[in-house]
Amino acid sequence: MNYQKILERIYNELEPEFGAGQVAQYIPELASVDPKHFGMALMTPSGDLHSVGDADVKFSIQSVSKVFALALAMRLVGDDLWTRCGREPSGNPFNSLVQLEHEQGIPRNPFINAGALVITDVILSEARTPREAVLDFLRMLTGHEDLHVNEAVAHSEMETGHRNAAMAHFLKSFGNLKNASSDVLEIYFRSCSIEMTCAELSAACLFLANQGHSIQTGDQVLSASQSKYLNSLMLTCGTYDAVGDFAYRVGLPAKSGVGGGIVAAMPGKFSVCVWSPGLDAQGNSLLGGNALELLTTYSGVSVF
Ligand code: DON
Repeated sequence: MNYQKILERIYNELEPEFGAGQVAQYIPELASVDPKHFGMALMTPSGDLHSVGDADVKFSIQSVSKVFALALAMRLVGDDLWTRCGREPSGNPFNSLVQLEHEQGIPRNPFINAGALVITDVILSEARTPREAVLDFLRMLTGHEDLHVNEAVAHSEMETGHRNAAMAHFLKSFGNLKNASSDVLEIYFRSCSIEMTCAELSAACLFLANQGHSIQTGDQVLSASQSKYLNSLMLTCGTYDAVGDFAYRVGLPAKSGVGGGIVAAMPGKFSVCVWSPGLDAQGNSLLGGNALELLTTYSGVSVF
């Protein structure tokens, strides 16, 4: 399969539309990103990297970090996680508080904000250096020591993240946060504010396409079963309340973030990351989703 050629075809086809969609406005530091960026990188289990466009430009990974936070929490506590968090799509916006009231403080899944706060709480209780745990995990998975939190974005989220703060207190009121909500929020915001490139992210999630095995470290990041679980959760819960349509169009487990990045994995074949900052109404990268749909269409490769 000539993946490089396919990526170039996708780039050329989407180029007239670069800048489409709406850059996230609710985090002031993200609102100033140039909407015309577009990058895509794909890595195969043998380590071959193919890329186009701005694949080496750093962007705010935002909720893509939830994949790595969940993988870490699975490593730390295994199945005990699921006493505190569900595994069903929410059908609601990622920052909705409504369901949490009905469901007694048990978030629907680990990829909505409420679920990610519970996952962060687990990391805070169990990791040796919780403040840096997600960042260190990403450094290990990529072999790049120079990954960092964008402090201005983290600060901006702290200042304006009132809904997340409300959610953390709400979770605490149901007894589903063990640590101080302010500590959980700080670590959550810092994980969202990590900056990476498409090339780095495609490398970081290659273990999901490789039965949980990292080619960078030679280690088993997750067991093959856990890797299956994580992919299944991405497929069913990874792209907010557009997840059904996304699975229909793209046919790959994927996780998006409001910075405009989306990672996806095709077990046995490749991991991929696309970045285009303009979002659709649900908060997924508009051209990113289109690019992944073209990738599975032109390659004829998807989990289905
Ligand atoms: O919680 C927030 O608002 C952001 N830090 C992350 C948002 C995002 O990418 C979508 N969340 N599921």
